[in-house]
Amino acid sequence: MQPSTEAQKTGTTASLTITDNRTGKVYDIPIENGTIKAIDLRQIKTGNDDFGLMTYDPAFLNTAACKSTITFIDGEKGILRYRGYPIEQLAEKCSYLEVAYLLLNGELPTKAQLEEWTTSITTHTFVHENMKKFMDGFHYDAHPMGMFISAVAALSTFYPGAKRIDSAFERQLTTYRLIGKAPTLAAYAYRHSTGMPYVLPDNDLDYAGNFLSMMFKIAEPRYSPDPVLAKALDVLFILHADHEQNCSTSAMRNVGSSLTDPYSAASAAAAALYGPLHGGANEEVLRMLDHVGGINNVPAFIKEVKEGRGRLMGFGHRIYKNFDPRATIIKRLADQVFEVTGRNPKLDIALELERIALQDDYFIKRKLYPNVDFYSGLIYQALRFPTDMFPVLFALGRMSGWLAQWQEMLLDEEKKIARPRQVYLGKEKRDVVMLSQR
Ligand code: ACO
Repeated sequence: MQPSTEAQKTGTTASLTITDNRTGKVYDIPIENGTIKAIDLRQIKTGNDDFGLMTYDPAFLNTAACKSTITFIDGEKGILRYRGYPIEQLAEKCSYLEVAYLLLNGELPTKAQLEEWTTSITTHTFVHENMKKFMDGFHYDAHPMGMFISAVAALSTFYPGAKRIDSAFERQLTTYRLIGKAPTLAAYAYRHSTGMPYVLPDNDLDYAGNFLSMMFKIAEPRYSPDPVLAKALDVLFILHADHEQNCSTSAMRNVGSSLTDPYSAASAAAAALYGPLHGGANEEVLRMLDHVGGINNVPAFIKEVKEGRGRLMGFGHRIYKNFDPRATIIKRLADQVFEVTGRNPKLDIALELERIALQDDYFIKRKLYPNVDFYSGLIYQALRFPTDMFPVLFALGRMSGWLAQWQEMLLDEEKKIARPRQVYLGKEKRDVVMLSQR
């Protein structure tokens, strides 16, 4: 939510006066933090049997579903901050695990806190041996995101204690486990799909390095990740770590609001992330670049998009209407990665698509700019990740954000089970006619 008025910035209370033209009655509705409470509208009725006024907001375009202190976004100005720290500084100066700590605890860790945090997560990177059998049950060509979603849900059966969500100890343990084990499950999903043996975690490597080892180690006694590539992956995890009340985070909060265990809620969040309009977008970007095929085909493709035959994937954002600050960081990161791996030939098509789209009225008018996913896929591909692993990589970074938002939701005194209303436009009451007479 962006502060737009003085009252919002200072948190002082103001009010909104509403005249109901149906009845002539006037209502004074308090404004707090730039919002009115939707429930305050319920008193606006035409008579005793009127339910009361509701707001209609499909897709929650203008509804704040919670108060949060985790992530701030100003979509017009292209600002993204975690706990007040600009994303640019976090990406430059911190590791993913420091950022995960920040999201969950509100402050950056001291050296001692970071050591303890890293050790706690690292000691939870191994998964139960039965998880291998679970993975083995999937078809050889199962999508790794489907496997990841299922494996995260399956963890709840290994750790029934996690159901005690009112225990701070259990919540902390689940946090270590989910952040620690998510890369292991992700790598297992990949290894299964390639028919390669699972690689156990190497706890002497850092978070991203260990993940690369579990993904790509073959016969070498010790996998040594390239430091530039491991750092690039770590930065991508930071950029994806949280993004306030997006679709998957809302899923985490909504499912968690029924007080289900966090593994099940995280699995639901990952399922939301799987969709092509959310975490599946970078996968779609690469497919799109393949479909375009070459720079010369770019104008024809843009024409198709403008005629409504498909979207320019990796462009547009519900919140950012100027630029996505993550996309700017990623573009720079791509140069560093390509210096090590060689230039991805699809980069030229992407650059041309961006160049043409940014000058085109269709995209300018609709405020469509490259989002985080436009270039991330090219980096992932340069790091040798297959396209269908892209949403899984997104989920690895976002896990810390989901957990931070879930914890905030649970500790919120105003929390209730999420249960939106509807506008019923179906049939009035009617009587059932027996099958023989229909
Ligand atoms: N290509 C072409 N046209 C687009 C695009 C696009 N990528 N995105 C939006 N539009 C157009 C729509 O057709 C619509 O045009 P109209 O007003 O003429 O009907 C207008 O822009 C508004 O689009 P909406 O879908 O209403 O915008 P919304 O805010 O709901 O959607 C979204 C945001 C889903 C990200 C959208 O821009 C999109 O589909 N982008 C492509 C998928 C993508 O890159 N997703 C990743 C998002 S970032 C993330 O999840 C990490």
